[in-house]
Amino acid sequence: MSYNIYFEKTDHDGVLNALATYGYCVARNVIRPDLIDRLKGEIDLALDPERTLPPANGKFHLTFAEESHALWDLVDNSDYMNLCAALLGDRQLCLHRSAAILRTPGDPMGAWHSDHRGHRKGPPTSANDFLNLYSMPSGGWFYLNGSHPDRSGLAVIEYSHTPDWQPPEGFHMDQDRIFLYRDGEETPFNQSDIPGYVPLISEPGDLLLFAAMTIHVNLPTNERRYSCGMAFRPKTVQIDVPWALPESVERLKARLPAHQQTLLEGYTGIVPDWKP
Ligand SMILES: [Fe+2]
Repeated sequence: MSYNIYFEKTDHDGVLNALATYGYCVARNVIRPDLIDRLKGEIDLALDPERTLPPANGKFHLTFAEESHALWDLVDNSDYMNLCAALLGDRQLCLHRSAAILRTPGDPMGAWHSDHRGHRKGPPTSANDFLNLYSMPSGGWFYLNGSHPDRSGLAVIEYSHTPDWQPPEGFHMDQDRIFLYRDGEETPFNQSDIPGYVPLISEPGDLLLFAAMTIHVNLPTNERRYSCGMAFRPKTVQIDVPWALPESVERLKARLPAHQQTLLEGYTGIVPDWKP
């Protein structure tokens, strides 16, 4: 690729232009080594406290901000929150969702997909169908080992974030525009030989960003790999979810300091196994 995707965390114009133009970019040095280590420790604690997760596995925590303390220290980092505010075009934000992923060596490349659920036909069938409807950056993700095609991390298809983007010749998306398939195949495509493939290369403190509709995938994992992220949304975007506020949100509310309580106004929590 012949363009720059790396920006200082304070270069909001650079970040926004790249997201709008290419569909992804990297904000450099958003978190420091001590926070990286704390987040890794909290991910271990939340997902694999005994460190018994077998090789070639991936485990997800879909309400990581409710467990993590380090993420809330990050919220007090003005460079980070200024960047989040710039990404969302608003300073009055609430927590939207958060997650952490732990992968062990041997976990293969995933299936190319978009997180966006705005093109789904039919009634909602999962929590994502309520939460992933907005044109906010989908990935705001810390790859705490860094990202590199030789080790692990994230790959995207450049320019795949716009409504006019069409899959390359020989490929198609399903009717909900969620998974990408090679024509004639029944399982979603999970390899790297596709035009527009960009494996991201980043350092552990970088924030990887991609747009709501960008097609992306996790790269094959050759090491114990930690990643996490939190997403905010403008409070003006009020959402209606079919689940009751989980008790875990009350516990989070009880432990956050007064100046962070405002970020929970509008937070719905997630019931990951919600079904209609
Ligand atoms: Fe995704």
